[in-house]
Amino acid sequence: MEAPLPDIPHYLLIDATTGERIAWVPAPPRTTVYEACVRSGVRLATRCRGSAVCGLCRVEVLEGAEELPPRQPDEEVVLGDVLDQEGGERLRLACRIELPNGVHRLVLGVRPEDRVR
Ligand code: FES
Repeated sequence: MEAPLPDIPHYLLIDATTGERIAWVPAPPRTTVYEACVRSGVRLATRCRGSAVCGLCRVEVLEGAEELPPRQPDEEVVLGDVLDQEGGERLRLACRIELPNGVHRLVLGVRPEDRVR
């Protein structure tokens, strides 16, 4: 039996391929998904360390996307052609999104190739 999810604002990371839970990550105010993962020891792929340059920290927003502000132009540029692929409309950069006020959690899919073990 899986442990219950916490009753604090958090990100729930799941494997985008298998649907299995990877981790839940506390979401402090004004902290990006990428920063929250680093603080919690969850390693997302990166070369730019959260500067919205490399595009490796992409995540698929599976729940809560409607609560997020639209992508900024730099996020669109970095994600580039992957936005045209199937499911591309759900892709965001973990280093550019954070939990909006009043939202309890975001469910994010992480592709195996975008995760460091
Ligand atoms: S960490 Fe490089 S784009 Fe997000």
